[in-house]
Amino acid sequence: MIVGVPKEIKNNENRVGMTPAGVFELVKSNHTVYVQHTAGLGSGFSDQDFIDAGAHILPTIEEVYAISDMIVKVKEPIESEYALIKPEQILFTYFHFAGSETLTRAMMKSNAICIAYETVEDPDGSLPLLTPMSEVAGRMSIQEGAKYLEKTYGGLGILLGGVPGVPPAKVLILGAGVVGIQAAKKAAGLGAQVTVMDVNMKRLRYINDVMANNVITEFSNEYNIRKNIQTHDLIIGGVLVKGAKAPKLITRDMLKDMRPGTVIVDVAVDQGGCFESTVATTHQDPIYIIDDVVHYCVANMPGAVPRTSTLALTNVTVGYVLQIANKGWKDALDQNKGLALGLNVVGGECVYPGIMEGF
Ligand SMILES: NC(=O)c1ccc[n+]([C@@H]2O[C@H](COP(=O)([O-])OP(=O)(O)OC[C@H]3O[C@@H](n4cnc5c(N)ncnc54)[C@H](O)[C@@H]3O)[C@@H](O)[C@H]2O)c1
Repeated sequence: MIVGVPKEIKNNENRVGMTPAGVFELVKSNHTVYVQHTAGLGSGFSDQDFIDAGAHILPTIEEVYAISDMIVKVKEPIESEYALIKPEQILFTYFHFAGSETLTRAMMKSNAICIAYETVEDPDGSLPLLTPMSEVAGRMSIQEGAKYLEKTYGGLGILLGGVPGVPPAKVLILGAGVVGIQAAKKAAGLGAQVTVMDVNMKRLRYINDVMANNVITEFSNEYNIRKNIQTHDLIIGGVLVKGAKAPKLITRDMLKDMRPGTVIVDVAVDQGGCFESTVATTHQDPIYIIDDVVHYCVANMPGAVPRTSTLALTNVTVGYVLQIANKGWKDALDQNKGLALGLNVVGGECVYPGIMEGF
């Protein structure tokens, strides 16, 4: 199969859909890979790195789309790419169709075969192509939070791990899923006193079993949250209710119960946020202050670390790319039910349940 890797052109997107390691695997299986000139540069991969792995470089995005049977990307195609997509071309990337009727209708019109990273499932119902980005965001939430606790940014002026003779900061983590566990591990490693809250007792039991003694768990309810926000210095929001908007666990009126300089990081901002005062921000302008509480609400946190994020994402996508390239998309999906759940648009129709009803 001929596989194409275009350069991402969405604003501030520096990740790339395939690394030289992925190219190497595909070429080993007798596939041909075309990579657009400078596509990997934002993630630290030169054209020569791709050539050394066996890829061919094409100067323009038009040429990559024109020659390829399958396009492997990171973000959904943007408007200027719609016309480049060929009928029956396989597109394997994040789409998040539910968020855009324009994109959904454009892909239906293109007659492409759209397999979306975000709906591919593992047998246990988890989302293997979303997990790595939650891992990145969870770990980042602590390093960003630690920075904004500095006085210059309006924070409490507390060093996360403290020093001998001075107690460390207290970190509250809402949600003990992928984001929450990664955040807890990093905060604990830096020496903070960590409280993790969830409504799922299995998650809390797991954390209680595996984490160090500076991580404690507490059941998530309004009473306990109201109590904890008064004493914690850094609060991370990492809750998710599948298929729904994030519950507003910290309401606007609760901000006045926090100490001035408390930092809150809403990782769940992409699902509407779990703080009522959350407004999505960007890496250019990541924080704002309400009632003396510093808010960090960047919707694409992994975008700040494209090298790590590209490697983390492509580690898990390349296996699926190989299955599709080796078997053809129909057989690959027939033989892998989890991958089949990634099929969102085919034959001019949107086949993933619920997307069209939302429009
Ligand atoms: N901002 C970003 O750049 C970025 C990046 C990656 C992920 N995310 C988002 O982070 C959020 C969390 O992702 P995840 O992969 O950790 O999800 P996950 O499903 O692994 O974990 C979510 C956890 O929230 C818990 N939860 C649900 N309701 C709760 C409540 N009322 N109180 C406490 N806990 C509750 C669940 O039981 C679950 O354990 C998602 O919204 C995801 O889209 C954002």
